[in-house]
Amino acid sequence: MTAQYQVQGDIAVITLDNPPVNGLGLSTRQGIADGMARANADSTVKAIIITGAGKAFSGGADIKEFGSDKAMQEPNLNSVIGVLENSAKPVIGAIHSVVMGGGLELALGCHYRIAAPGTSVALPEVKLGLLPGAGGTQRLPRVLGVEAALNMIVSGEPVKSEMLAMLPGQKLFDKLAASADSLADEAMAFARSVADVRPLPLVRELKCKHPQGDAYFQFARNMVKGMSKNFPAPVKCVDAVEAATKKKFDDGMAVEREIFINLMWTPESKSLRHLFLSERAASKIPDVPADTEQRVINSIAVIGAGTMGGGIAMNFLNAGIPVRMLEMKQEALDRGVATIRKNYEAQVKKGKLKQDKYDQRMALLSTTLSYDDLTGTDMVIEAVFEELGVKEAVFKELDRVMKPGAILASNTSTLDVNKIASFTQRPQDVVGLHFFSPANVMKLLEVVRGEKTGKDVMATVMTIAKKIRKTAVVSGVCDGFIGNRMIEQYGRQGGFLLDEGCTPAQVDKAMEKFGMAMGPFRMGDLAGNDIGWAIRKRRYQEKPNMKYSKTADLLCEKGRFGQKTGAGWYDYVPGKRDAIPNADVVSMIEEHRKSLGITPRKISDEEIVQRLVFSLVNEAAHILEEGIANKASDIDIVYIFGYGFPAHRGGPMNYADQVGLFNVVQAMNRFAQNPLDDAAFWKPAPLLERLAAAGKTFN
Ligand code: NAI
Repeated sequence: MTAQYQVQGDIAVITLDNPPVNGLGLSTRQGIADGMARANADSTVKAIIITGAGKAFSGGADIKEFGSDKAMQEPNLNSVIGVLENSAKPVIGAIHSVVMGGGLELALGCHYRIAAPGTSVALPEVKLGLLPGAGGTQRLPRVLGVEAALNMIVSGEPVKSEMLAMLPGQKLFDKLAASADSLADEAMAFARSVADVRPLPLVRELKCKHPQGDAYFQFARNMVKGMSKNFPAPVKCVDAVEAATKKKFDDGMAVEREIFINLMWTPESKSLRHLFLSERAASKIPDVPADTEQRVINSIAVIGAGTMGGGIAMNFLNAGIPVRMLEMKQEALDRGVATIRKNYEAQVKKGKLKQDKYDQRMALLSTTLSYDDLTGTDMVIEAVFEELGVKEAVFKELDRVMKPGAILASNTSTLDVNKIASFTQRPQDVVGLHFFSPANVMKLLEVVRGEKTGKDVMATVMTIAKKIRKTAVVSGVCDGFIGNRMIEQYGRQGGFLLDEGCTPAQVDKAMEKFGMAMGPFRMGDLAGNDIGWAIRKRRYQEKPNMKYSKTADLLCEKGRFGQKTGAGWYDYVPGKRDAIPNADVVSMIEEHRKSLGITPRKISDEEIVQRLVFSLVNEAAHILEEGIANKASDIDIVYIFGYGFPAHRGGPMNYADQVGLFNVVQAMNRFAQNPLDDAAFWKPAPLLERLAAAGKTFN
């Protein structure tokens, strides 16, 4: 049972006990209902307290039941709330730490609520493309007022209990306890004080009105629409709260229910729920058990204080872990430290970082020119030039000085991690940690598992990733790992589209309308077109038969490397990121097209999106089949957190699943007929073909 029942004198206490956050799974709901029945049947009990064990009152729905029929199985949450409301004896919610989603809805079914200060209160369902489905949209406005409640429901953001307790006229909390420690005693005293008070107050019986009525809701709807263009749920939250002000309680509940069910079926909500579960699943590695013994990492060294080294160091400083940076020259160290300082100072200026925090972080940073200073360090991350010879020298030095058991990581973006490991006598300690630029901002971390990387090393770096607030995905060793290997195909399709008749702006606009944070050409300008150029030059040697558009090379020959040179596919004004189309680039594309004898055709946005997204999908299917990625959902996470793929599409694999793999394969076969495209590439990957034929999905 995941809810405990106890009687203390004349008060019954039901304690939710379903770690980690007392999720309201079936057995917890049953436990509450059973406890309520016992308390009501026991003539010595005068009042009932509901509270949570451990670190939460309740975090809401149980993740394990998420999206399954079990979540609806009786007693479902609405029925349990009905049991509380219909109790003949007063029910008091003793709330602390976290009260979210269904947990808050449960609390709103109690007759009284007493909260500890510091409690995080939220209805976060909107973040999963839903709205609260157990009366949250109807009860919260009744206790907080329409505007405060709507803000919470539409944003899903947590608000602290002491802030809510200060709202004029609020009825969410009958009492704010002096502290979390005194909550239990204060709840007990409160319960005794109301034990004989009748009638029992019910939130559902409170009035709910907004003085401006229609005008307010019109305004709210416009605001919310503007802020959530790809998501239907936030506007629906407004509809549900409006119903609370206009309809009788039970009719308002019916409106909420209907909206909830409709949202549940939207592709947006399915994608967001997929993303939520995928993020949790990403940290699990099939052959590395959860109880694998981990290494202790209390200090970090970073080799190379350049663009990546500085950003990587900041991640650890932010997490309170000391960092020592090593360079070959003092000037390089000084430059690296100055950049870190500048980044933090900008945050202080914007009020995002307190001065004392900034001081603490800088105090954790030290520098050295000598490898001998790294002997006591638990883990080192190399971020020197991307040249195998340079990496070899560094790893030989690390092998010489680092203590046994230290983890040796490389931030290489293209080199073979197995080869890097072979430069040492301890390949089991070597792992790739591929951060994305800017490393202190981007959430994604590809953890590259070498052939010999130890399981304990894998387990340890996944934990470290969490500590520095990264979403880590495991990749096997291959050229480009998961993300960049796929983006190469995407870039190739982008080139063909230009040759066949598109402008960069047309392609970018189509992809941005699809939801990408940035189209491929704006992204190229941001990352630096010279990087892709260098990779292509290598490919021309390695894969002479691979088909490429030469347009991007022509652009690079003009020195148009992107934002850093003020000119790429677009022009840039210093200090601004706006991409301004350039007529010379467009005529360069046209002339090249002419030289190839191609008559341009009008290409639809739909074709642009399909060719670019399905190129990712086909390469990803190869990646999955080769075991480079452990699961399709990991690939979705890589693209959403590392490449600006729209969350409401749930990642490329989820999107392909939603389109239907049969349709995806059909489209690929069509693309293969285009003589200007690469027919060999569009041969569907065997895995994709099998799944499509069997009517299955990736996820
Ligand atoms: P960078 O050129 O900005 O920095 C490299 C730094 O390493 C320089 O400060 C240099 O002085 C130092 N260095 C070179 N050889 C050294 C040695 N033997 N010992 C100590 N320090 C040495 O380069 P960036 O962009 O920071 O890249 C570093 C690594 O990160 C490369 O492997 C790159 O492929 C990888 N990477 C880069 C990304 C990016 O977007 N820039 C993204 C992900 C990975």
